[in-house]
Amino acid sequence: MRDGILWDPFCGSGLELIERSMLGGVRIALGSDRSAEAVDIARDNFVASGVPASARFACCDFRDFARAEGLAPESISQIITNPPLGRRVPIVNLPGLIRDLFGAADALLAPGGSLVFANPVALRCPFPSLRLMSSRTVDFGGFDCRLEHYSKSAPLSASRRSGPRSPTRSRRPRSRNTK
Ligand SMILES: C[S@@+](CC[C@H](N)C(=O)[O-])C[C@H]1O[C@@H](n2cnc3c(N)ncnc32)[C@H](O)[C@@H]1O
Repeated sequence: MRDGILWDPFCGSGLELIERSMLGGVRIALGSDRSAEAVDIARDNFVASGVPASARFACCDFRDFARAEGLAPESISQIITNPPLGRRVPIVNLPGLIRDLFGAADALLAPGGSLVFANPVALRCPFPSLRLMSSRTVDFGGFDCRLEHYSKSAPLSASRRSGPRSPTRSRRPRSRNTK
């Protein structure tokens, strides 16, 4: 990623945003969390880290973040997050929350962008634009999660335009048999 826009929808204290930004290539780091306390801590931690990216944080449900920040569709380069896992704090509909995370990635990631997150539920991504690149089981201290990496594909019409031409069209024309 170069000059990228990074978003952690469940930023908590900002750990993932800071560590990913430290790897470089991040111009803007965005964080959302519905806990005002978490957002304040993330903001302070980001400043203290000295990471040379500009950062913006919002206290809101991740589903409202794009509207609150005025983000255009397909404007995010990477989403990296450790979502609620439903262990310490029960979540009413965890599969629904993860499905909505996939939905946000489908809408907001730029073509070629990526979603990297710890998936606590056995839910396949329902959006064809997001291709699973890797999945690794990780022990989260007594229970397993899958660390998943998805890549957002270009719109179908664009990949069709740049895709290989059909063999019949690329074949050299046969010479006419004049005999
Ligand atoms: C597992 S913690 C993330 C910890 C984080 N990686 C850190 O460095 O502290 C999950 C976070 O998601 C937030 N959260 C839960 N549901 C949310 C929602 N619907 N929208 C935004 N944030 C939410 C919680 O407040 C919590 O801070």
